[in-house]
Amino acid sequence: MNSDKTGMHGVWASRWTFVLAATGSAVGLGNIWKFPYITGENGGGAFVLVYLACILCAGIPVMMAEVMLGRKGRMSPINTMRNITQSENAPVFFRSIGWMGALAGFFILSFYSVIAGWTLSYIVKMATGVFDGANADVAGEQFGGLLGDPVQLTVLHTIFTVLVGVVLVRGVHKGLENSLRMLMPLLFIMLVLLLGYALTTPGFGEALSFLFSVDFSKLSGESVVVALGHSFFTLSLGMGAIMAYGSYMPKQASLGKTVLTVGILDTLVALVAGIVIFSVVFSNGLEPGAGPGLMFQTLPIAFAGLPLGDLIGTVFFVLVAIAAWSSAISIAEPAIAWAVEKGHSRLVATTAVCGFSWLLGLGTVVSFNVASDFTLFGKTFFDSLDFLTSNIMLPLGGILIAVFVGWFVRKETIAHEARVQSPVLFNLWIFMLKFVSPLAVGYIFIKGLGIF
Ligand code: TRP
Repeated sequence: MNSDKTGMHGVWASRWTFVLAATGSAVGLGNIWKFPYITGENGGGAFVLVYLACILCAGIPVMMAEVMLGRKGRMSPINTMRNITQSENAPVFFRSIGWMGALAGFFILSFYSVIAGWTLSYIVKMATGVFDGANADVAGEQFGGLLGDPVQLTVLHTIFTVLVGVVLVRGVHKGLENSLRMLMPLLFIMLVLLLGYALTTPGFGEALSFLFSVDFSKLSGESVVVALGHSFFTLSLGMGAIMAYGSYMPKQASLGKTVLTVGILDTLVALVAGIVIFSVVFSNGLEPGAGPGLMFQTLPIAFAGLPLGDLIGTVFFVLVAIAAWSSAISIAEPAIAWAVEKGHSRLVATTAVCGFSWLLGLGTVVSFNVASDFTLFGKTFFDSLDFLTSNIMLPLGGILIAVFVGWFVRKETIAHEARVQSPVLFNLWIFMLKFVSPLAVGYIFIKGLGIF
């Protein structure tokens, strides 16, 4: 295998395009919808601290490892892992990274597009003035009405899945590069605007202390696993999405800075979204632990309090939908790239992957209404799927990637591919992959699941 070739799927225009695409993948519903609501459910500050520690100790090193593997393999994660285990004489077992990742991708995409469908509905609600002068009651009723309607949820889920499919059929870098170049900065600007609004609300101080004052007594074993799982989810790690994007990365670019940029941007977006949402929560006497509806029940109130709120709210939900869209594309890409390498056309590959995930998504749709009483281990279908993927499959994938690169890939291979300029940082990275990331992830994982 020749690591210097470009591969059949093409390469990004430059290092910056990779940053843009990887940020597009990382920044999504995980930052704006999921991070605030799980932080609310898990008591705030201590949870945030564990999450930040996981990003630093496991997220960044594993992300570098994924990009490195992708850039070396230049194929879908399944074939990349097959080729590299061969060329490095590593145990065949590590091929499971590719397979498990593709499966996790199906599961994640299935519920991700249902939630993204909610944002589509909110674009229309905002644009038509449903939330004019809205208070917490109106926001709660609107959200409850949406969730109670399986037909509407299915229609929205379908629209979103089709939007994702349309880009995937054309190939990731065609449509994606140009649109993201404009839209990502716009999303950042909107968030800063909302932050400015949050500053003027009476709940701002309480929001900061909720997010940043650490009280470990609020942290349960499961909270710790949720924080760990989310650090993988938010950086799109552990299932090959970033590996697939890395396989389109130009060879010269240095890994460390590139990956760090993505990690910092992703974390900033999550923290700002958290500050905005909790300012509204505390200013309006809402419940921080409200669950998946948190963003949808708070932000409309914020917009109602802003001049030109309907317009700003509409633009904001459009941007969230776009952030979700650019993330969803990356979730499906590993499986599609693999099917294309098997000789299928992009159209067939995309239809199959999106079709299956759409079907599975119907389970999530009904878990919010007609089948909300159906539970597995005390969780609804949506919660179980979310738990299985974020808290089990992604951390497991992350440990395997860290162990594989740390212990089974030759150092010269890594050095050649990674192009980390400073020897100190390079050795630190390898040390993290060998010891810190697998032990930290393994410990939290086992302890949090209550196995021992
Ligand atoms: N990181 C994205 C978000 O926060 C979601 C996502 C994209 C993802 N690709 C992924 C999650 C791969 C897990 C694995 O919304």
